[in-house]
Amino acid sequence: MSQPTLDTIVNLSKKRGFVFQASEIYGGLRSSYDYGPLGVALLRNVKEQWWRSMVRMRDDVVGLDSAIIQATAVWEASGHLTEFTDPLVECTNCHARHRLDKLDNPDQCPTCGQSGTFTEPKDFNLMFKTHMGPVAQDGNEVYLRPETAQGIFTNFENVRRVSRRKLPFGIAQIGKSFRNEITPGQFIFRTREFEQMEMEFFTHPDDAEKWFEYWVEERKNWYLDLGMKPDNLRMRRHDPDELAHYAVDTYDVEYRFPWGWDELEGIANRTDFDLRQHAEHSGRDLTYFDQEADERFYPYVIEPAAGASRTTFAFLIDAYHQEEVNDETRTVLRLDPRLAPIKVAVLPLSKKPELVEVTEQVASALRPLWDVEVDVTQAIGRRYRRQDEVGTPYCVTVDFDTLDDGAVTVRDRDTMAQDRIGIDGVVAYLSDRLG
Ligand code: GAP
Repeated sequence: MSQPTLDTIVNLSKKRGFVFQASEIYGGLRSSYDYGPLGVALLRNVKEQWWRSMVRMRDDVVGLDSAIIQATAVWEASGHLTEFTDPLVECTNCHARHRLDKLDNPDQCPTCGQSGTFTEPKDFNLMFKTHMGPVAQDGNEVYLRPETAQGIFTNFENVRRVSRRKLPFGIAQIGKSFRNEITPGQFIFRTREFEQMEMEFFTHPDDAEKWFEYWVEERKNWYLDLGMKPDNLRMRRHDPDELAHYAVDTYDVEYRFPWGWDELEGIANRTDFDLRQHAEHSGRDLTYFDQEADERFYPYVIEPAAGASRTTFAFLIDAYHQEEVNDETRTVLRLDPRLAPIKVAVLPLSKKPELVEVTEQVASALRPLWDVEVDVTQAIGRRYRRQDEVGTPYCVTVDFDTLDDGAVTVRDRDTMAQDRIGIDGVVAYLSDRLG
């Protein structure tokens, strides 16, 4: 099936409570979004799956949660204060501002259509600046982090010491980052506040190439394992002129968004750039001593850096599916059950108190294990469609026969096949399928 349009996903997100415009009751704040009940669950599941594969299932990666506001010296050392810029042009006709490197035609303003009206490009720094303390004055400016990575580099020695790790090992972090993007857009794809899932993998320089290839493969497989369609995913190596100031090699994981291929994640060989910079600027020794080889060196870093919000968006688009069933269009989100916001919906056939009571009993037995929703309103067919539309893998229906035979009907989202199961067997039945 072809990709849904951007409007389709935006409408579904709003209608079903995945994502809302931030400050909507005040007219909305452009490019800021709030995650509703289903959106926050989907986003959390994406982050949990990332943490599971990057930290929990490995013995060579540990976690960290560093501060959003760091000393300004961190951004001087990392190069963000001078290098983290985009080329900004302003149209002298309509005064719209654009990011030059993202324009289809670098000579024509996409807002008013005039050609030859752009000013000379100037470097626009993407970091958000604020002040620490009650008085806004020179000397107390601080920045919101534009990437989570730097908190990892500045803690390299702390984490190595306390976790008693030998190379190679990684430090992973999930958290908010902020960039004052010139042209945010495409819904939650490019926003000024977003979440990243980043891991810095420290290795001997001689092994960096091997680990780079390893992580490129691992990260591609993570998306595929969670059900992303292979046709919608590709790996693209950066041309030398598009590499970030810290990288010697980068692969982007790209997804086929409704507007075309675009970046989901970057896997970069950052060499020893960051550790060297921080060592020079802080005066601390950030080298690594290999006792067996009697060798001291700066480790190289391989960095898989993904966007949590962007990845959530891609999974939402990828799962969207429409099909004709009994002359009706059925919309179904074919999310991997691990990502689905609601795993099981428990539905009484009618609102009769005796059915609702059993429904509550079944739901209570399932709640400690999975995210469960009870829905008692509307015709059962409509309730199935509602659950299909938000990707709930299983619906458990309590009907009048349940009161006699102690069994319920379990319906599969994708096949719509129904099995009759004794209430005592429902947990085992769902455990086999949901894990
Ligand atoms: N530490 C390396 C780094 O930050 P990046 O390619 O600039 O690399 C990594 O960012 C990922 O963060 C991107 O692949 C993207 O998924 C996400 N990301 C970056 N800017 C974003 C934005 N403005 N809105 C949403 N996600 C963004």
